[in-house]
Amino acid sequence: MRVLSSLLLALTAGASSALVDAPAPFNSSLFKDLNVTRGLNYHYYAVPADTGKPTILFLHGYPSTSYDWRHQVAFFQDKGYGLLVPDLLGYGGTAKPLDPQLYVSSLITRDLIDILDAEGINQAVVISHDWGSKTASRLANYFPERFHSYAFLAVGYFSPNYFATPYDVNVNLTKAVLGYANFGYFDFFASDGADQIILDHLDSFFDILYAKDTVRTITDWSPLGALEAFITKDTRLPPVDYVTPEERSIQMEALRQGGFAGPLNWYKIARGTLEGQDDQGIPQQNVLLQSPVFFGAALRDYVTVSAPINLDAVIASSNSTLTVHEYNSGHWVQMALKDEVNSDLLQWIEGSVGLDG
Ligand SMILES: *[C@@H]1O[C@H](CO)[C@@H](O)[C@H](O)[C@H]1NC(C)=O
Ligand SMILES: *[C@@H]1O[C@H](CO)[C@@H](O)[C@H](O)[C@H]1NC(C)=O
Ligand SMILES: *[C@@H]1O[C@H](CO)[C@@H](O)[C@H](O)[C@H]1NC(C)=O
Ligand SMILES: *[C@@H]1O[C@H](CO)[C@@H](O)[C@H](O)[C@H]1NC(C)=O
Repeated sequence: MRVLSSLLLALTAGASSALVDAPAPFNSSLFKDLNVTRGLNYHYYAVPADTGKPTILFLHGYPSTSYDWRHQVAFFQDKGYGLLVPDLLGYGGTAKPLDPQLYVSSLITRDLIDILDAEGINQAVVISHDWGSKTASRLANYFPERFHSYAFLAVGYFSPNYFATPYDVNVNLTKAVLGYANFGYFDFFASDGADQIILDHLDSFFDILYAKDTVRTITDWSPLGALEAFITKDTRLPPVDYVTPEERSIQMEALRQGGFAGPLNWYKIARGTLEGQDDQGIPQQNVLLQSPVFFGAALRDYVTVSAPINLDAVIASSNSTLTVHEYNSGHWVQMALKDEVNSDLLQWIEGSVGLDG
């Protein structure tokens, strides 16, 4: 209860939330709030680096908060790394505007640079997952001088022209290759009222999100209409063993409190044309990454099909050292195989050249 009530406070309060306990391993007094240049509040966890250690910026995906990185926070904070772990736009203690246009990458990356500036961080290492990988890609495209290196988990690099292909064309392509419309769930997420439907069936939604048998997503998440049908029937599935019941309630409560109207905007801009248009502003000379890249493929993630599709994208986009690890895991690889992932990331960071803190 103590953990839950502190989370609620952290979600609604500003800097005063620092006085309340945050869920372990987060240290309550290290949460901060920043009103970024465009006037939106960002809530983030900030651990200063020990001398000589770099700072890592962690970018979570959908539907999540900074709490997704709890195992990495525990691991790297003990080793003296600087950490910046924001709740991204739409989530947790950060602003949750309803206008999808405010979620495009050129704006969100600027917000994150504001956080780096406020913290006096000249260069950071990025570690990203899911939609966070899109944001990491765009940080590399817009602000390459601010980052040492980029790690992508489960979802790889998004090339600047990725969203130029209309959604319908992409869906038909996946249908031709896989036999079903792999990104059909975008359609549901972008539809009016989806936020309330998800909230009304949150247990079922969490069951399929964290399905133990990840093959279930092929029938019950990805195809057009499948996810909505699954949750509106309140279908239940056995839970995964790498998320404790307490961790699950912390995550569910954060999302219940924040709602899904904000988070679903990450899909609306991709299902429509906003992200594709925004990406046209990417400087051509920054399309190819010139810094070390890590890709952690989640071999049993059938939604993002990370191994075959994302690996190609990462390889094609890197003109620097590329480190690839394959994990026998579903989508949530940073939780499911935390020790393996932490150790691989540590080795990669320590081996990356030119780190100057
Ligand atoms: C939390 O951070 C504060 C500020 O750096 C520090 O004084 C305190 O010892 C930390 N608490 C724990 C439990 O590490
Ligand atoms: C945040 O900054 C904007 C201008 O960038 C300002 O108009 C607004 O009042 C600020 N909000 C808070 C809560 O300080
Ligand atoms: C996608 O496939 C559907 C059904 O086969 C077809 O009606 C539609 O025109 C296709 N859309 C595009 C953009 O190719
Ligand atoms: C790739 O990197 C090398 C240096 O490592 C550089 O000389 C070359 O111009 C880069 N190629 C492109 C296409 O950016």
